[in-house]
Amino acid sequence: HTPWPGLIAAYRDRIAGAGDWEPVTLFEGGTPLVPAHHLSELTGCEVYLKVEGANPTGSFKDRGMTVAMTDAKYQGKKAVLCASTGNTSASAAAYATRAGLRCAVLIPQGKIAMGKLAQAVMLGAEIIQVDGNFDDCLELARKVTAEFPEVGLVNSVNPARIEGQKTAAFEIADALGKAPDVHVLPVGNAGNITAYWRGYSEYYADGITTVRPRMLGVQAAGAAPLVNGAPVKNPETIATAIRIGAPASWNQAVAAKEESGGAFRAATDDEILAAYRLVASKESVFVEPASAASVAGLLAARAEGWMEPGLTVVCTVTGNGLKDPDTALLGIGEVQAIAVDPVAVARELELA
Ligand code: F0G
Repeated sequence: HTPWPGLIAAYRDRIAGAGDWEPVTLFEGGTPLVPAHHLSELTGCEVYLKVEGANPTGSFKDRGMTVAMTDAKYQGKKAVLCASTGNTSASAAAYATRAGLRCAVLIPQGKIAMGKLAQAVMLGAEIIQVDGNFDDCLELARKVTAEFPEVGLVNSVNPARIEGQKTAAFEIADALGKAPDVHVLPVGNAGNITAYWRGYSEYYADGITTVRPRMLGVQAAGAAPLVNGAPVKNPETIATAIRIGAPASWNQAVAAKEESGGAFRAATDDEILAAYRLVASKESVFVEPASAASVAGLLAARAEGWMEPGLTVVCTVTGNGLKDPDTALLGIGEVQAIAVDPVAVARELELA
């Protein structure tokens, strides 16, 4: 048994530029593909969850960051900068520290989940809150890195990020022995849907798989520019990770949808929260709200007949539920403590 070597080592010959790199790695990737029994029963499909919260910093961003940070190091960058709704900042902070680079993150004021902020602080990022939303932060990050080339931009507009993230599609096809019929994932800035489509397309082009999945991209209803066909000026959703109104990879996301015969759809916050609770309570996978958008979209698409029963479906759950404890505890009031007494426990459990 050889331990998992990290994704650059695992897929080196498929990652542009990785030839002789010594990777900046936290041994990301190699995440579980978990059969989702309850969702399979509900949909009549064979549903799997690609559990990206199992990455070192708890989200899929680590796949992109190992490649982007290794590239930044070889390019001789002195520092890296990103805009972030939280996960990118935690991941950038971790990998920059490994690479020995300074890391600064631009975050929308008051709109990032507590766990992500805690990670960015602990991992040593210079945190700059911006009086604006994610789209404003990204525009700022682009301007600063254009002016100061010694600072690398590590958002998904950096092609190295997409090269890393596409490996999730390879892992899925490797695990299933085929590509799924449908791939569902949440869409914010649209880097990840771009990356998955590239990964599936490369395996298909090389004859490793015989089909490519239909891509179903799910946005939050209050932040659904790709569904509406126009940018959203003031995006709003409880799923703060995907609170984005002007996705940078717009054209690539549309291409993925069209070339795959896929679709974009919106999930309301209520649908997202219902899916969030269902995935935890029925599939034993605790994800963050944005990740649950994919499950909400899957259930709605199936209910509307967009998907037939019997298909193999993979749903990417992008981030760990521990990132956002506040949403998990919404509506849980103060809990009364009981006496140190077995009878009291039995009474609580309605055994006595
Ligand atoms: N799910 C989670 C948990 C995310 O953090 C993100 C993006 C997405 C889905 C959407 O992926 O942007 O590639 O379409 N988070 C970014 C961040 C924006 O800053 O952490 P996308």
